Amino acid sequence: MSERFTKAAARNIFFGGSLFFFVVFVGLVAYSHTYAINTSTDAATLSDEVVRGKHVWEKNACINCHTLMGEGAYFAPELVNVWERFGGKDDPEGARDTLKAWMKAQPTGIEGRRQMPQFNLSERELDDLAAFLRWVNTIKAQNWPPKLSG
Ligand code: HEC
Repeated sequence: MSERFTKAAARNIFFGGSLFFFVVFVGLVAYSHTYAINTSTDAATLSDEVVRGKHVWEKNACINCHTLMGEGAYFAPELVNVWERFGGKDDPEGARDTLKAWMKAQPTGIEGRRQMPQFNLSERELDDLAAFLRWVNTIKAQNWPPKLSG
């Protein structure tokens, strides 16, 4: 290598480096995508109910206050594992009832607590929502969130 760092050398490092890291980037995107599709997502249990529940979740913008796997707003608790928090692993029926009762009981009006609005959801919407929150709890998020409390 010559002692002086020539313009051509600088250019080659720039383009070569950019190309190299672009290839690495594409590889990582492909890897993440395959991982998300095949490993972390249980497509077999993705029922119509779950899909409808996701629409209930989106239509009512729950994400404006809550997070799902850390994504969303930090006003209210993380909900990706709320199913587990409500005891859904051992007692799915109980967790669904707890969730429905929770949704119907809002806002609590308890002083000093943050309040959640009343969404007036139908029984079907509530069941769909429960199915959605149950399903998201099966996503393998590499042990995220680290605590049961979110
Ligand atoms: C305006 C903000 C806001 C919106 C929008 C909102 N929530 Fe909440 N949510 C809260 C707050 C605040 C709490 C905690 C209340 C408390 O602990 O007393 C909460 C708590 C919860 C809990 C209980 C969590 C736990 O760990 O105990 C569930 C379940 C829940 N929300 C579901 C939903 C769903 C489903 C939607 C959308 C249909 C929604 N929330 C929309 C503010 C909101």
